[in-house]
Parts: sequence; structure tokens; C-alpha cells
Amino acid sequence: METAQRRMEPLVDRFNRPVTYLRLSVTDRCNFRCVYCMPAEGLDFGPNSTLLTFEEIERLVRLMAAGGVRRVRLTGGEPLVRRDLPALVARLSAIEGVDQVVMTTNGHQLGRCAEALREAGLTGLTVSLDSLDEARFAQITRGGELSAVLAGIEAASRAGFEGIKINAVIIRGFNDDELDDMVAWAVERGHILRMIEFMPIGADTIWGQGGCVPVAEMEASLGLRWSLEPLGEVASAGPARYFRVAGRGGQLRRGEGKVGFISAVTRCFCDGCNRVRVTAQGGLRACLADDREVDLRALMRGGEGDEALEEAIRGSLWGKLASHSFNIDGGAVTRKQMVSIGG
Ligand code: 5AD
Ligand code: SF4
Repeated sequence: METAQRRMEPLVDRFNRPVTYLRLSVTDRCNFRCVYCMPAEGLDFGPNSTLLTFEEIERLVRLMAAGGVRRVRLTGGEPLVRRDLPALVARLSAIEGVDQVVMTTNGHQLGRCAEALREAGLTGLTVSLDSLDEARFAQITRGGELSAVLAGIEAASRAGFEGIKINAVIIRGFNDDELDDMVAWAVERGHILRMIEFMPIGADTIWGQGGCVPVAEMEASLGLRWSLEPLGEVASAGPARYFRVAGRGGQLRRGEGKVGFISAVTRCFCDGCNRVRVTAQGGLRACLADDREVDLRALMRGGEGDEALEEAIRGSLWGKLASHSFNIDGGAVTRKQMVSIGG
């Protein structure tokens, strides 16, 4: 039986930014080993019992929805390595107040489960894809298979997902020569390519050798072959700035569509931050770039009630900083690796 939704004041941080979006990691395991996300040897993943159970996740989401969360994004690691994920999607979709359940995935297993996810109520998909070149793709993912990911994206389209977002982290000297091809590829298929500045997350990843390409540079380079017309920024749309993109007449490229840029490093978008993150082990992170976490799992397993959980969440939000401290030549800002945070 459904329990009645608890009444709750909206969740806001100390700068009065309302929290409407939760990024929820369901596992910190991954079938890839992307060079910017985790060390080659993997990480010391704990046993499965350290992960929040579906019941615990549902409880947290219900509470946060009562506090104003409207959109939940499932992340990892790779979310699809968690067993029975469609069942979790269905449970979260049914929660009052939750309008959207979406997922960021590496796409490798989408061929197998896109349809089940769609049926369970998943409303949107983002697939990480940093290169369309097989050898490069294998290199950056340390062994990932490009063809499986492309097949997965196709399966998702067939299953009815529209406006699939493709996240590409742009790294100088690695894939910055592929912007043009990736835009053409995405436009042709109706996907929304989002080009992301490489962020200094996680000590001892490969960041820090001038790898970050500023969005201004990406725009200038694309502008040679594409016209980019800014689409008005929608409040709460998140950190991406979107453009209508169209091939410049008479040149090689045809078609039109939508692309986005995420300038996490060179243009801070923290003013409009609407999000918190929960790690696979139930650590609440008020900010991607701040390693302080509140252990919600310990509270739940210690038998605490929703009041105590609410108080802990508000405490974390009270400590949230106005903005992160990335900059173009700075080193890593977190000790935790991206794979343990979920992006
Ligand atoms: N900088 C920018 N984006 C990153 N991602 C992972 N690590 C970084 C980084 N250092 C991206 C992934 C995925 C999303 C969750 O975050 O490629 O698309
Ligand atoms: Fe929000 Fe932190 Fe991301 Fe800035 S870095 S947008 S404060 S989560």
C-alpha cells in the first residue's frame, strides 16, 4: 500500500536555490574504464551490501520529491550493470511529484534493455560517447566497443526515445578534431550532441595537461562549417547552453538540429544550480566538486525516521558553496573519481 506523501517545505540551499533535480548513482561499477573517470585497475568497489537497496532509494526519492525534486537521473558507474534496473525505474516513476526519470549510460547494454526501460517509464536518455573512431573509442574507454554503443543508441531510438542526448567530453589532442563529424552524425539521426569541457574531477586521472578545450574555442571551430543560433535559455534547463545548428549552405554539411555546450570550467553556471547528488552508497553530495558527503545510508540503516533524514539533507544544503573552484589551469578539485560520483 502507498503511504501518504509527507508534507515538507521546499528544499533550498543557503543561497535560496531550490533543489528540483536529483542525480542518483545506482552503482559505482562500470563495464568500461574510461581514462578520465577511473584508474586502469578499477577501484576498490565495496560488496553489493554497501549499495543502497531499491527500498532505500525509493524512500529517499519519495522524501526529496516531497521537498520539490521533480526530475531524477540515474547514473553510475554504469547504471545498467545494476540488476533489475527497469524495476527501479518503474518504482521511481510512480512516486508523486516525480515528473521525469532519466538516465545517463555508456550505452553498451542498451541494445538489450532499451525497450524494457521505456516500458518501465524512463522518460529520457543520455549516452556518453566521446569518439566515432573505433580505435580511439577503445582507447578512451580502455576496451569499450564502439559498435555495441552505436547499436544501443539505435535500439533506444527504435524503442521510442526521442531527443537522445549524446555527451562528448572534448579533450585537446584526443577528440577535438572530431567535433564536425560528431555534429553531422548526431544531426543526421536527430540526437542532441552536447560538447563538454573536461573538468578537473578526481585526483590522478589524466586531467591537467592542457586537455580542457574552452567552449568558446569549440564554438569558433564549429562555426566554420555550421551556423549556430542560440536557443533562449530555459530556466532550470541545467548547465548546457543550446543552439540550433545548421549546415552552411553549399558546403559539405547538411541538415539541422540542436547541439549543446557545457562550459563547466570556463563559464560557471552555479548560480542556477538546482541539483544534488546521491552516491551509490547513499552519500549525499550537495555539489559535484565538493567531497563533503552526508551519509544517508547510515541514518536509514540506523533506523532513523524521515524527520532525521530531512534534517540531514537540509544540513548538507546549508553547507553548499556558492560555486565550485574549477579553473582552466587548476589541478583536481576532488579526491573522489567521477565513477564514484556519477557525473
Ligand atoms: N569532465 C567532464 N565530463 C566528464 N564526465 C566524466 N568525467 C568528466 C570530466 N572529468 C562525463 C561523462 C558522462 C557524464 C556523466 O560526465 O562522460 O557523460
Ligand atoms: Fe552546482 Fe556544484 Fe555543479 Fe556548480 S559545480 S553547478 S554548485 S553542483
